[in-house]
Amino acid sequence: MKFFLDTANVEEIKRITRLGLVDGITTNPSLIAKEDRDFKEVIQEICAIVDGPVSAEVIGTKAEDMLKEAYELAQWAPNVVIKLPMTEDGLYACNELSRKGIKTNVTLVFSAAQGLMAAKAGASFISPFIGRLDDIAADGMQLVRDLKTIIDNYGFDTEIISASIRNVGHVEQAAIAGAHIATIPGSLLPVLWKHPLTDIGIEKFLADWNKAQFK
Ligand code: E4P
Repeated sequence: MKFFLDTANVEEIKRITRLGLVDGITTNPSLIAKEDRDFKEVIQEICAIVDGPVSAEVIGTKAEDMLKEAYELAQWAPNVVIKLPMTEDGLYACNELSRKGIKTNVTLVFSAAQGLMAAKAGASFISPFIGRLDDIAADGMQLVRDLKTIIDNYGFDTEIISASIRNVGHVEQAAIAGAHIATIPGSLLPVLWKHPLTDIGIEKFLADWNKAQFK
């Protein structure tokens, strides 16, 4: 499974990429706004740090505006992926870009039908939002499982990014479901490698070692 970081914070990206765990980055307008920095500058900095796809989202809601932005974004760095909303205009833009060999990530996918439409429109990635579905008492993980079945059934060249991940269980279950990628908030990723029994175990080993009398 590939791990993407779901953040636009360059310091966070630098700290975590040095562990060799990061295969790409996803951003969205909310994450970019949080940084209060120039959009182009942030994306170019991230693209220089991470050797993998970096999603940058369009703001336009009409296909022609999306495409204008997409062609501009695609110039910023070779690893930029154009993030498009799951709408009719987004699907049109996705199809246009995919015909031109420009990578796309169709975001805000909340049903299997939406994911199927995006895959047919040539999306390189689709992003089902697990946490936001769970928030409304739906089953986000079932959507990931269904999309995996659909993609495998028809051999679509589309990767599933499990998005809107809120906890360690989401990452584990997405991996078990066979999702290609999990995009994980920078604050959550360190929680994945922690376990209280590991910390207790280290303390006990050190205490025993220090108590021992070596001859
Ligand atoms: C995915 O690409 C999105 O940026 C992200 O996962 C949204 O997550 P949220 O529901 O926590 O905002």
